[in-house]
Amino acid sequence: MTIESTEHRLAGLALSLRDVGGVLLPADSVASDPFETDTLFLMRSLCASPYARSFIARAVARLSVGSESATEPMFGMLVVPVRLPRLLAGGRFVAVTLLDEGIEGETLDILAQRAGIDARIARTLLRSLPPWDRRTSGRFANVVSALARSESERLAGLEAGAQLSTAWEELHLLHSLSNEMAVGTSPREFARRTLDEVRHTLGCRWTALRVDGSAAAILDVEPGSLLVSGADITLAEQLLGAVQTPQSAAVVGTDLVLAPVRREGEYFGVLAAGDRRVGDCAMSNCERTLVETAAGNLSVFIDNARLYRDLDRMFIGALSALVSAIDAKDPYTRGHSQRVALLSRQIAMAAGLSAADVKHIYISGLVHDVGKIGVPETALRKQGKLTNEEYGQVKQHPVIGWRILRDIPRFEPVLDGVLHHHERFDGRGYPHELAGDTIPVAARIIAIADTFDAMSSNRTYRAKLGRSEVLNEMSKLGGSQFDPTFLAHFLRLDLSTYDVGLEDCAASGSGDASSLDAVDASSREPLSIDSIGIRNLRRLGEAA
Ligand SMILES: [Fe+2]
Repeated sequence: MTIESTEHRLAGLALSLRDVGGVLLPADSVASDPFETDTLFLMRSLCASPYARSFIARAVARLSVGSESATEPMFGMLVVPVRLPRLLAGGRFVAVTLLDEGIEGETLDILAQRAGIDARIARTLLRSLPPWDRRTSGRFANVVSALARSESERLAGLEAGAQLSTAWEELHLLHSLSNEMAVGTSPREFARRTLDEVRHTLGCRWTALRVDGSAAAILDVEPGSLLVSGADITLAEQLLGAVQTPQSAAVVGTDLVLAPVRREGEYFGVLAAGDRRVGDCAMSNCERTLVETAAGNLSVFIDNARLYRDLDRMFIGALSALVSAIDAKDPYTRGHSQRVALLSRQIAMAAGLSAADVKHIYISGLVHDVGKIGVPETALRKQGKLTNEEYGQVKQHPVIGWRILRDIPRFEPVLDGVLHHHERFDGRGYPHELAGDTIPVAARIIAIADTFDAMSSNRTYRAKLGRSEVLNEMSKLGGSQFDPTFLAHFLRLDLSTYDVGLEDCAASGSGDASSLDAVDASSREPLSIDSIGIRNLRRLGEAA
């Protein structure tokens, strides 16, 4: 005898019932028949006709309202409820058997005739089954009850195992994703790793994230863009291009899971996993839960990244306001710190430094002259020549700035640029007369930007020096005042952004130069603030 539907979750129970002369049948529209295609199972075949179905349905209806005993036979047939957890079993079921009176009487004749089976052969075969009659019907019900209890425990075990498996996969996925949430991981990189991890965990051919709303700016993509892991990029585009963002995670058909990436009512996009290639290949609640977990994790990361970005902008904004206020102490240095920060960042990027280093050099450029706040204004704004004492005061500003910032944890990576931005590559700078590669990279870069801005600025007593003249002079100082490698990167920069900043300051009516930053430490003579730019150029020429 072939059993085609052995995959049915109650196949084992159905076989046990068959051994005692019963057949397991669905009792509602949700339940499926374990042996529906098994035409060789005689009892099943007898119960398959619409007539028998109708009769059994009436018996089920009476059982459901509790008006009849489960062991009260009707028409020589006994219909007993199989008490199983409905969700785990997949619906309601009953066990049906024919009593002796049914087998020997007209019931079997009618059922066999409706089922197209020879009644005499059927009767002979059924007599070989365990005999049940009105007296032993209660025992049949007890057997069904015992089998149902055993089956319930098995189903509960399977369910617990499935839940444990899901919980394990969920924990593993969360653990993997948490490891990816390292400080410094960019949101886009984290999204990419999430897609890879989900695809690997679920055994899918592809996973994809459609980026919507404010998440687009965080992930640095256009709104509606797709980030895809694995194959079938075209399929992912077709599916996610038009799909509405679901309210909650859902399995679509058996091939696709969709989950909203949402945080406190704000939608960041849709996370999708498709074309599973392991197990039964079907997406289930387990896969839905895992994708939902990953989407939740991703939404937290995106939200945190946005908060961090906002805080960072506030921080840079506050810092810019602070240094602007300091620059404004001298009308010729207005806007200088921002321009030096901008140029330093451009040089660092051109040199291929890491994103973290570029950012630290930018901040360092922004605050490189913060120590001016501790220099007497009489020295900073003096129109005539500086005395030795005043020049000594001016030269203290890198150390003063370093002292101001050294106790602030956030500034630890930028301290070197502040302290050493007046060092020279040939070792004749200040405050520590460092030379060559012993000068921190940030300081070597800022020194170039600092000098260029000082020489390119308008002064009240003269127009700014020509661009070609400045670049020509600076190009001669590689190896003496400047690191030749970073100088080469600087000389190749597109300076249009810098020029916009310079024009903005000019339009605001302020003078714009950094006489302090043009101080050449090779000169020990007292310098007039107003003359520094000219003298510096003259020295540049002499050095050439
Ligand atoms: Fe300076």
